Amino acid sequence: MTQADEAPLSEEQLSEVIARYPDRTGDVLSILERLQEMHPLNYLPKETLIRVAEAKRLALSNVFSVVTFYSFFNLCPQGRHTVTVCRGTACHTRGSNLLMNGLRAEIGGVWADGQSSYTTPDHELSVHTVACFGQCAMAPVVAVDHEIYGRMSEMKLRQRVRQLVRKESNDEDS
Ligand code: FES
Repeated sequence: MTQADEAPLSEEQLSEVIARYPDRTGDVLSILERLQEMHPLNYLPKETLIRVAEAKRLALSNVFSVVTFYSFFNLCPQGRHTVTVCRGTACHTRGSNLLMNGLRAEIGGVWADGQSSYTTPDHELSVHTVACFGQCAMAPVVAVDHEIYGRMSEMKLRQRVRQLVRKESNDEDS
């Protein structure tokens, strides 16, 4: 990933998406979803929120409220891969802390216990936490790129992360 990947979308891209949704306020959610999907780092830069607020004649705070209400919106650049660790009671009891510690050891990230997400500086991987996947019988549960894995162990998770990162470097080498 390069610095350019973090840049906001172009005015042309923004205008094209905004024009597709002419309703003043009802379409804000769809516009934001589409703009996030289009960004190479799967997030909504501040400039994008300002542009949407202006186009829909809304206060920036209204657009910001929408983005912060829905957990699938990202305000920071995301990694190419995502690991989401459940921190609910069942998963906590069955070792989600060990999974988090394993991830820290594997990717060398420095992120605090209370922090709900972390992205590696090279944007290879983002780590998120959730309150519950609704799969408590399979605790501890993680999602890797939206695929759910139950009864996850620290070693298995570290291996899975290594495979992902190795595959990316092999793809880039070829
Ligand atoms: S507490 Fe982890 S899936 Fe429910």
